[in-house]
Amino acid sequence: MAFAYRGGTLCAEQVALEDLARRFGTPCYVYSRAAIEGAYREFTDELSGRASLVCYSVKANSNLAVLSVLARLGAGFDIVSGGELARVIAAGGDPAKVVFSGVGKAEAEIRAALQAGVLSLNLESEQELERVNAIAAALGKRAPVAFRVNPDVDAKTHPYISTGLKQNKFGIAWPEAERLYRKAAVLPNIRITGVGCHIGSLMLDSAPFVAATRRIVSLVERLEQAGIALDHIDLGGGMGIRYHDEASATIAAFVHGALDALGRRKETVLLDPGRAIVGNAGVLLTRVEYLKPGEAKNFLIVDAAMNDLIRPALYDAWHEVRPLREVESGAARGVYDIVGPVCESSDWLARDRLLAPRQGDFLAIMSAGAYAMVMSSNYNSRPRAAEIMVSGARAHLVRRRETPAGLFEGEQVPEWT
Ligand code: LLP
Repeated sequence: MAFAYRGGTLCAEQVALEDLARRFGTPCYVYSRAAIEGAYREFTDELSGRASLVCYSVKANSNLAVLSVLARLGAGFDIVSGGELARVIAAGGDPAKVVFSGVGKAEAEIRAALQAGVLSLNLESEQELERVNAIAAALGKRAPVAFRVNPDVDAKTHPYISTGLKQNKFGIAWPEAERLYRKAAVLPNIRITGVGCHIGSLMLDSAPFVAATRRIVSLVERLEQAGIALDHIDLGGGMGIRYHDEASATIAAFVHGALDALGRRKETVLLDPGRAIVGNAGVLLTRVEYLKPGEAKNFLIVDAAMNDLIRPALYDAWHEVRPLREVESGAARGVYDIVGPVCESSDWLARDRLLAPRQGDFLAIMSAGAYAMVMSSNYNSRPRAAEIMVSGARAHLVRRRETPAGLFEGEQVPEWT
């Protein structure tokens, strides 16, 4: 366990989180290098003996230090923007192991990806295919492409993060896929590399993932009969993690289920997990500013807010809250809603939690390694929090806290007349 109590104090690997909270201030995110490496290796171990590439989904946590830890292990990367491509390159990632997903790639992003030499562009529409072919022609290249198909399989997750149903904007409609492959096969500046699919995020059960794999295999077989051979099958990410007491399928269950469904197919398997690699490898540290007992609710007002972690407000998500110092058994406890300073009633981080807090105490909001910092904002002119990476007994500041002056660095007041 990367985050565990030692001698009554919550630690990240060998470092006491309270020391980090005092040294770097709160709120701050703390990541465990060992936890990231461990989760990545679970994937590669389960895939061993099979041609495969784990492409970490950069959107989950794009800090350069996180990307660098994974690049050093030989990971590939799943990106969705030119910004993410720049980050991967800056962190030492190999562009030849990058898959570029996303429904709305701009011309400049496509050009940058082709110039960098990515493994594959995962295309999501016919117009995108035409645009990529034209840009590749202008560059004198053949663009490596896969189609992300929408298999119309219900991932059984929150509707905001479900992507594999026909009413979702993602992917090529299932009945269209074969026609587009045939069209791509004869375009002069296109080279077909594979097929992609991603049906949703935070799947707790592997069954929909396996069902989608089966559908993809049926398409690959039809394409083969049409004389279209693929190098890889990209099954996406979406593997769930445990936030609370839910029974989430293990990484092994997802990988084995998919490998079974792939049967004797020989194409390289690509997976693009994000949350399953970093989700439980990070926490958000915060300090209790005020205890505010109320008639209907008791509030614990902390210095982190929805701008630091929007998942509760956006998806009603549950994040565990732990005190950095273990509570003594006799301490008086109360039930609290943990809320931030932002001026919105949706600014809550956790509800109805049994805690024994005092003003000034530090708390850890758990499972904040994925979709936390990357979804943060400056709402209410709050500087973004610092990020720290622990490795063994060492702690590295991997992004400094923003400053109030930095918030309006790019702004200008016109010369009023
Ligand atoms: N591949 C593709 C094409 C994706 O769209 C996504 C996530 C992933 C891989 C990685 O999914 P993961 O393994 O992390 O589930 N903000 C939401 C999650 C949005 C996920 C979007 N796509 C949350 O906080 O739950």
